Amino acid sequence: MKQRPKFDHPIDELLQQRWSSRAFADKMLTEEQVMTLFEAARWAASCNNEQPWRFIWSLKDGSEKYNKLFECLAPGNQEWAKTAPLLMLTLVETLFANGKTNKWAKHDMGLAIGNLTTQASTMGLYVHNMAGFSASKARELFTIPETVEPLTMVTVGYLGDPSVLSEFNQGREAQIQERKSLTELFL
Ligand SMILES: Cc1cc2nc3c(=O)[nH]c(=O)nc-3n(C[C@H](O)[C@H](O)[C@H](O)COP(=O)(O)O)c2cc1C
Repeated sequence: MKQRPKFDHPIDELLQQRWSSRAFADKMLTEEQVMTLFEAARWAASCNNEQPWRFIWSLKDGSEKYNKLFECLAPGNQEWAKTAPLLMLTLVETLFANGKTNKWAKHDMGLAIGNLTTQASTMGLYVHNMAGFSASKARELFTIPETVEPLTMVTVGYLGDPSVLSEFNQGREAQIQERKSLTELFL
């Protein structure tokens, strides 16, 4: 198990154990597990209860949909994300139902992914968010409404053996997580 950082104040065990793994075990998730993850996302808070989060997802099942999602990833992320059993594109509806811009949509997706991540931790699953993907490729390969913006891609799976990774990524995998101190965060 990866070395855990030193926490300055007590936080829940589930939050302590989370980190962004790049090595996933060759173990498939069930559709029911996937639905549980999205159910957790669904119950996040959102501005005006607009629920602007949208998802395009696939299990690693060799389907056209999976291949298209995988194609959207930056090569550096493809190198390790190929081991993950679940791959998703997160997207936000940028307009409120009344047509005005929802400037909190990305905030709310963050809350939804936070819920999904904590739910994943309870299930022994690890989540890795990625900005390294092509939004224009996603628009080319999927039917995405104009007002919906691709935001991130995310992998989920069980922890795997880091030896499946390149030397570079094995090094990243072994790094201890670092954070700014709390005093740096308080303005
Ligand atoms: C929005 C977002 C985008 C990220 N993009 C990438 C990415 O493209 N590739 C990658 O390997 N990690 C990516 N990460 C993972 C971060 O590097 C990681 O969360 C950070 O270094 C802290 O490490 P930890 O999550 O293990 O605590 C991203 C994380 C977030 C939240």
